[in-house]
Amino acid sequence: MPLRPPPPVASNPLVRIAHDVAAERRATVAFPKGWTRFSLRRTTAFSRKPLPLLLEGYERFGPVFTIRILHGNVVFMLGPEANHYMTVSNAANFSWRDGHLGDMIPLLGDGLLTIDGDFHRRSRMIMLPAFHRDQIAKTQAVMDEEVARGIAGWREGERVDLYAWTRVLALRIAMRALFGLDPDNRADVSAAHDFEEALGFWSRDYTLQVLRGPGTPWRRLMSARRRIDALIFAEIDRRRATGERGEDILSLLLDATDEEGEGLSKGHIRDEVMTLLFAGHDTTTSTVAFLFHELARDGEARARVVEDLAAGSTAELELAMDETLRLYPPAWIGPRRALEPFEFAGVQVPAGIPVNYCSWASHRLPDVWPEPERFDPQRFAPGSREQIPKGAYVPFGGGSRTCIGMRFGQQEIRTIATAILERFNPELAPGYELEVRQMPTIGPKHGLPVILRARVPASPGARVAA
Ligand code: HEM
Repeated sequence: MPLRPPPPVASNPLVRIAHDVAAERRATVAFPKGWTRFSLRRTTAFSRKPLPLLLEGYERFGPVFTIRILHGNVVFMLGPEANHYMTVSNAANFSWRDGHLGDMIPLLGDGLLTIDGDFHRRSRMIMLPAFHRDQIAKTQAVMDEEVARGIAGWREGERVDLYAWTRVLALRIAMRALFGLDPDNRADVSAAHDFEEALGFWSRDYTLQVLRGPGTPWRRLMSARRRIDALIFAEIDRRRATGERGEDILSLLLDATDEEGEGLSKGHIRDEVMTLLFAGHDTTTSTVAFLFHELARDGEARARVVEDLAAGSTAELELAMDETLRLYPPAWIGPRRALEPFEFAGVQVPAGIPVNYCSWASHRLPDVWPEPERFDPQRFAPGSREQIPKGAYVPFGGGSRTCIGMRFGQQEIRTIATAILERFNPELAPGYELEVRQMPTIGPKHGLPVILRARVPASPGARVAA
């Protein structure tokens, strides 16, 4: 059977709001307990700092509760069992396309993040070989080269915004390793800028996102999208015409087929390419920034990582990466919509309404994680890791929709962190205070300004005040 994409969805936020309101009216069972009355204060608090509100909800109402955000009720499910329920045991009862990520369809199209059911299963099957361990290992040379190039100009005492620097680097790596494009070619560089411009749409005020017509953010998004599409389509045509292939993921997607011998159409490849670029970009970048934020504040953890690297092992770095992803999982929310009413932990949840799991809050529950606010990579050391309950740690999601780019992302973070730590000991710039922004992924709101110090052995036990 040929692969058929799902029907298009409305791109206008007003239509989506009307859809939410109608779905809420149709609810046949009551919403879980929570804050179900509209409150501007709470809506603002959620959009600025969702974490404290989610932790309070868990404490007051339990693992499943409701928060009214803007026009509609949204259900949150927190904790190990809830994560497992939504991503593994009852995943089929939740749609991604109709969750909040559906807002991204105007840019992403019908890639893995915004499709469901059989179309998702078959698309993922076609793509999986491209993300096999051996394929990802082949991208190591590109990562090494790009990181060495990026770091070459760094000098002792210099101030660098590590977040901004990594963002540029990650885009260059993605262009080469995922798509075989040349980040020094003028046309390809402007596509990278267009991609950043397109993403900017979602950081605009919600009221501006609703507007259509000349000069609006929507119009800018659409023209950036057209330019990126032209580049991707031209590259697909060129590769198909010449038969040229490389070690990049696009090369593999061009020839991949599923068990029925069905491959990806040109439009489908474009959507998957855009989805990979989106899903892999800020997630990796933010993790590098958060990792260095934590290592700069914790002399003991940094010393362990640096000494281990000097001995030729990345084991301690892996633990620090795991712990960073516990405290700051960039893809912090798993937005879905319930297809059928269901019961979880004795609580009824209606169909048709947004239901989210949230790794960020789940990773900080005091009844699951001792001293949840403390950066402690040793939680993941052999012997302790096995004590972590099933479903408690979900920075890459779970089940059949676990992050397909996990290995690629981990390898990239490891490569960047190793190269930096072998030469430098980045200190937080004086007066810097981390503030976390949360849309669409969590990241450091004001970047991560650091001062580069030539590497000296860090003094164990020195935990610098935040
Ligand atoms: C530190 C890096 C990364 C983190 C923390 C991360 C996290 C996640 C999470 C939590 C999900 C599932 C979301 C949900 O359940 O709603 C996901 C899905 C996905 N990620 Fe990642 N990701 C990372 C890097 C990457 C990279 C580098 C790529 C691509 C090269 C990528 C591509 C994807 C795709 C395509 C999906 C959708 C998979 C599916 O539904 O079948 N991610 N990621």
